[in-house]
Amino acid sequence: MAFSRVSKLACILPLSSTNRYTVHMVDEIRLRAGEFTTLVRFYKTKEALLEGTDFQVFDTNTAVLFSEAGVPRHVWPAGEAHKTWPQVEAVLGQALDLGLARDSTIAGIGGGVVTDMTAFAASLYMRGCRLVLVPTTLLAMVDAALGGKTGVDYRGYKNLVGSFYPAHELRICPALLTTLSDREYRSGLAEVIKHAFLVDFHLLELLETRRDAVLARDSSVLEELVFRAVMVKVGVVERDLRETGERAFLNLGHTFGHALEAVLGFDGSWTHGEAVCWGMGRALDLGVTLGKTDLAWRKRASALMEAYGFRLQAPGADSEAILAAMKKDKKKKGGLVRFVLQESQGKTWQQPVEDEVVLGCLERGL
Ligand SMILES: NC(=O)c1ccc[n+]([C@@H]2O[C@H](COP(=O)([O-])OP(=O)(O)OC[C@H]3O[C@@H](n4cnc5c(N)ncnc54)[C@H](O)[C@@H]3O)[C@@H](O)[C@H]2O)c1
Repeated sequence: MAFSRVSKLACILPLSSTNRYTVHMVDEIRLRAGEFTTLVRFYKTKEALLEGTDFQVFDTNTAVLFSEAGVPRHVWPAGEAHKTWPQVEAVLGQALDLGLARDSTIAGIGGGVVTDMTAFAASLYMRGCRLVLVPTTLLAMVDAALGGKTGVDYRGYKNLVGSFYPAHELRICPALLTTLSDREYRSGLAEVIKHAFLVDFHLLELLETRRDAVLARDSSVLEELVFRAVMVKVGVVERDLRETGERAFLNLGHTFGHALEAVLGFDGSWTHGEAVCWGMGRALDLGVTLGKTDLAWRKRASALMEAYGFRLQAPGADSEAILAAMKKDKKKKGGLVRFVLQESQGKTWQQPVEDEVVLGCLERGL
């Protein structure tokens, strides 16, 4: 069975499929981190995905993927522009009007915007009610819905207000990805590539050797690709829930990528995933400049990103402005910007780098 081949990640405990979802579910694992446990379930089809939920929260694009089944629902307008506190408050109000209790289950069905906001609402309602997340974008499946970070954008700052509240259950159905736009799918692929670079060598090989099938969303590769990418994040979160160490490695490419997005003003010319791949290209270049990244690894990693159509140059962007944006990032500690760098696949570390060195690296990427 494609879903159960994850030999490198010994911390994962595959459980037997002995519950009422057996017909549709192909595998499940338990993510244990600190005092939290998330049951991560994989489904072949979407039929049973929303079973046992009391209140379902969608956006306008994901609501149409599921027929109404007599369970109350709330539909947010789609898009990051609506990732705001009033949207969360509206859900809290409806939950109260419905008379939901602390043991009621709220389900968030959508991309990272919906899963972040629904999880935030669930963390607040009665100081925390049951939460099921059903991610419907690749990015939400392999990243956003996993690991407990919730929140909304506030006064122009992304995810400034939020809480920490892992879902009780995460239900993942790769088949849902077939309706996703190419642009959103490829954006999520950037995170999958990142997970391959960080942890899973088999995922790297799968991306290299099955490119056409991956891009075509062929179910035979999609299931394994999603499963492996999910397992990477599960492993990292289990080992470092509060981001005191290894979890920060998930920011590979993000320090550069977020700054590029900020400078370009989220004008839609670069998706988040495209900016992250550009950022990973810059991180490889920075590592080479510092004499620490293996040249063969830079070549191989860059070739993979280019094979998936990701741009490693951002002509026209202003290097000084990108550096300034990095320095404003709320996650930055101290004066110098810290970067996640790689020696080769699976060999990752984080270090501060002098501004002049960063500027040189940025200029080579424009
Ligand atoms: N909590 C975390 O750890 C974490 C990590 C990474 C990203 N995020 C957050 O995730 C968000 C981005 O998530 P995203 O990329 O999923 O964006 P998104 O939620 O905006 O979804 C992208 C678009 O795809 C549509 N869509 C979703 N599923 C679909 C489907 N199956 N078929 C057709 N259309 C579909 C959505 O309606 C939306 O228009 C950001 O707000 C980011 O801050 C959170």
